[in-house]
Amino acid sequence: MSGGKLHIGSTIFKNPVFLASGPAGYGIEYGDLINLEKLGAVVTKTISLMPKEGNPGARLKETESGLLNSVGLENVGARTFFSEKLPELLDLGVKPVVSLACEGREKYLNLLEFAAEEDGVDAVELNLSCPNVDEGGMAVGTDPESVRWYVSKAKDILESSTVLAKLTPNVGNIAELAVISQEAGADGVTAINTILGMDIDPVTGEPVFDRITAGLSGPAIMPVALRAVWQIVQAVDIPVVGVGGISSVKGSRKFFAAGASAVQIGTALFYDPGLPERIIDSL
Ligand SMILES: Cc1cc2nc3c(=O)[nH]c(=O)nc-3n(C[C@H](O)[C@H](O)[C@H](O)COP(=O)(O)O)c2cc1C
Repeated sequence: MSGGKLHIGSTIFKNPVFLASGPAGYGIEYGDLINLEKLGAVVTKTISLMPKEGNPGARLKETESGLLNSVGLENVGARTFFSEKLPELLDLGVKPVVSLACEGREKYLNLLEFAAEEDGVDAVELNLSCPNVDEGGMAVGTDPESVRWYVSKAKDILESSTVLAKLTPNVGNIAELAVISQEAGADGVTAINTILGMDIDPVTGEPVFDRITAGLSGPAIMPVALRAVWQIVQAVDIPVVGVGGISSVKGSRKFFAAGASAVQIGTALFYDPGLPERIIDSL
């Protein structure tokens, strides 16, 4: 950080407080609730090459201390995102970090080539970690050689963009994947995506979600995210962006103390959209 600003790769962020990918949609939806211009960045909903409808059945379920989701990367697809959503965000004075789906290799390469043609793709976050889709996502992010391939292709094709690799906590050694991301050229690592969980309806005895498992986020996962960030910071030299369960200014301080260069707020936006601005004011 210099003068309150944060440098990751070639990108300068005005501060280290970002909206996490997903809960805030494309960011635009939060325009009436948050002064988006004040944020370090908005990480967009993950974008795939083609539009995606997401998963059937239940998608969100509150738990005692968190949220289970099985959204399944519903999004408008690259064409609509780059022609409509991204220009709108840029007009609002927002610093976007475009979250890219890590689907099958051919689709992924096409998505990167699409993104490389567009203006305004200064920084991307590779979603190597979604637990709610069959193709790509967590299956990619748990395999070290796939992580290396997806990150290195993003660096090759997006040339001048800053690349963050977003990792899954659903592995034995997350720091190892962070090291591989660094070796493959990532400018930073984001940790963590949601933790694999499930719920069962006590009356019917049936799993709540059609896909059985779902991703857990919110306060319940903060100790796991903090541990992951701590371990990654010890293992790599690139900036680490901490995300997972931050629901207070105090919580954000723990991530900075663990060595995070920036923090992202996700689930807390649903009930406390003022939190990111309070964290910025506390810096
Ligand atoms: C409803 C919902 C949708 C999400 N969608 C995405 C997504 O599209 N891409 C992604 O990388 N992470 C997604 N996430 C994960 C969050 O970005 C974040 O990594 C995770 O929820 C942990 O942070 P939190 O506890 O502050 O929410 C989603 C999370 C939720 C709750």
